Amino acid sequence: MSFSLAKQSVLGLTRPVLKYSVPSAPVAIARTFATEAPAKKTKTFQIYRWNPDQPAEKPKLQSYEVDMNNCGPMVLDALIKIKNEIDPTLTFRRSCREGICGSCAMNIGGSNTLACICKIEVDSKPTKIYPLPHTYVIKDLVPDLTEFYAQYKSIEPFLKQKTPEPERENLQTIEDRKKLDGLYECILCACCSTSCPSYWWNSDQYLGPAVLMQAYRWMIDSRDQFGPERRQALQNPFSLYRCHTIMNCAKTCPKGLNPGLAIAQIKKEMALE
Ligand code: SF4
Ligand code: SF4
Ligand code: FES
Repeated sequence: MSFSLAKQSVLGLTRPVLKYSVPSAPVAIARTFATEAPAKKTKTFQIYRWNPDQPAEKPKLQSYEVDMNNCGPMVLDALIKIKNEIDPTLTFRRSCREGICGSCAMNIGGSNTLACICKIEVDSKPTKIYPLPHTYVIKDLVPDLTEFYAQYKSIEPFLKQKTPEPERENLQTIEDRKKLDGLYECILCACCSTSCPSYWWNSDQYLGPAVLMQAYRWMIDSRDQFGPERRQALQNPFSLYRCHTIMNCAKTCPKGLNPGLAIAQIKKEMALE
């Protein structure tokens, strides 16, 4: 397009006007699009495999290469990618993919955590993934948590009252409600219990940090009236006193909770009773 000054005559008056003209042949505008693919960035995952249908075969670590240019940022994204695109036999639990359901708990790079909120380490080292330690394995990364849930059931994790049921809600002061903070957020993923050496050796009798923290959650609920009975049920050498305050539980909890502190509070209350 070009511009030039011209003269126009309107009603006998001559005035200057700006004229523009478009070139007869359109100018080709060359655009360069990047056509090269980004450099390949792969990450190796070494994953524990065991298949109950082949019981004679020993468990093994299997390596998978994942293209990180084409993968989400979390370990669960890589596991789903491996299952969808490389090996559909890989077995693991997951549901919410946002750290709420607790089902993707596993041991990643040496720590118990949730695969869906665990970022993939972007380095050249392989990431090793095992099921939660010291659990019976159902298949690959799926632990058998039957005993863990039975222990949770044993502490009667629900409101218990001696007085007749109120006609309306059980009200609670703001201060009493605050006492439940740091306890009610537990998603029962079992990361803490399966990181606890005392639980490894005595999981048939010691209740472990996750279950004990939930026992404490009901003991300090101002609406519950069975605190003394709940503590009495722990009055034996194993259920509670196997905790030696090693604090692996607080270190590993992916929700930032402190079961070791809750256990210490139960011990304190029992000592004062
Ligand atoms: S305390 Fe933490 S690690 Fe333990 S079960 Fe609850 S959320 Fe999981
Ligand atoms: S503080 Fe108690 S429950 Fe927590 S890891 Fe140590 S022994 Fe286990
Ligand atoms: S998928 Fe639910 S906590 Fe990870």
